[in-house]
Amino acid sequence: MTAFASKPKVLLTRSIFPDVVDRLSKHFDVETNADDTSWSREELVARLQGKAGVFTTGVERIDAALLAQCSALKICANMTVGYNNFDLDAMSAAGVLGTNAPDVLTETTADLGFALLMATARRVAESEHFLRAGLWKRWSYDMFLGAEVHGSTLGIIGMGRIGQAIARRGALGFGMRVLYHNRSRLDAATEDQYNAHYVSKSELLQSADHVMLVMPYSAASHHTIGAAELALMKPTATLINIARGGIVDDAALAQALMDKRIAAAGLDVYEGEPVVHPELLKVPNVVLTPHIGSATAGARRAMANLAVDNLIGYLVSGTAITPLNTVKG
Ligand code: DGY
Repeated sequence: MTAFASKPKVLLTRSIFPDVVDRLSKHFDVETNADDTSWSREELVARLQGKAGVFTTGVERIDAALLAQCSALKICANMTVGYNNFDLDAMSAAGVLGTNAPDVLTETTADLGFALLMATARRVAESEHFLRAGLWKRWSYDMFLGAEVHGSTLGIIGMGRIGQAIARRGALGFGMRVLYHNRSRLDAATEDQYNAHYVSKSELLQSADHVMLVMPYSAASHHTIGAAELALMKPTATLINIARGGIVDDAALAQALMDKRIAAAGLDVYEGEPVVHPELLKVPNVVLTPHIGSATAGARRAMANLAVDNLIGYLVSGTAITPLNTVKG
């Protein structure tokens, strides 16, 4: 454990709840980002000078080049469960701990996944735009016919905590048949709990009425869904991405939606966000939300507090709650 002569210095890369800053300030000399601007990498490096810890929001790239310039750094605490912004090998080599914020956002993010599934299948956003545009003149039997959710087949790619929370909603709440694909198969008791069946990715894509993407982003999961995979899906199917931008080839998806190759999509994450592929903005059969999977006050506060717990735990007592790598003391 590092002994500090005075309060260790900690950087907050973005604005966060004032009471969370107060918690940090009790233990650390805190530099905040009062304007809540997105700093360039150069500015981040400059502000990290002399900082023992940094509170990150899941987008700040922490790699060997940055670490080589930030010798005081001991811990990077993401307030997100995703940590594809961390090069953990480089962090371990530099003696820097990475932490994330799992569990506290699981149910909240699963709720958003289901909200997007419902909105997409039942054309909620598209029909609302129609109504607001003053186009609704009368009821008709075939107006905005959508896809069934109850009793349909839900295909989940990525069956971690959030994937399982979605499976539970689908199986127990909506009587859905659950297919899943994952790096490793779940144990039989867990599969039984959700009536979930392990299948290959191509079988899932061919059989599911609704495909939900919930896996972490890595080089291996880049463009898990591209033109070839979209071509396997039913023309009536929907695709929901609450995982990470880059897991779907957004250009290929926009084309598939335009061609009605699949019925509709619901997206919370994008390649190059906050920029959204311009063709996706043009197609009506896609519901677009701005990365709000965990956006409830309760979940965001719990995520921020877990990041703070990790900073305090590691820099004050030598132990983080949710470490991602091993650092030699
Ligand atoms: C996460 O925690 O990784 C979420 O995407 C943040 O909203």
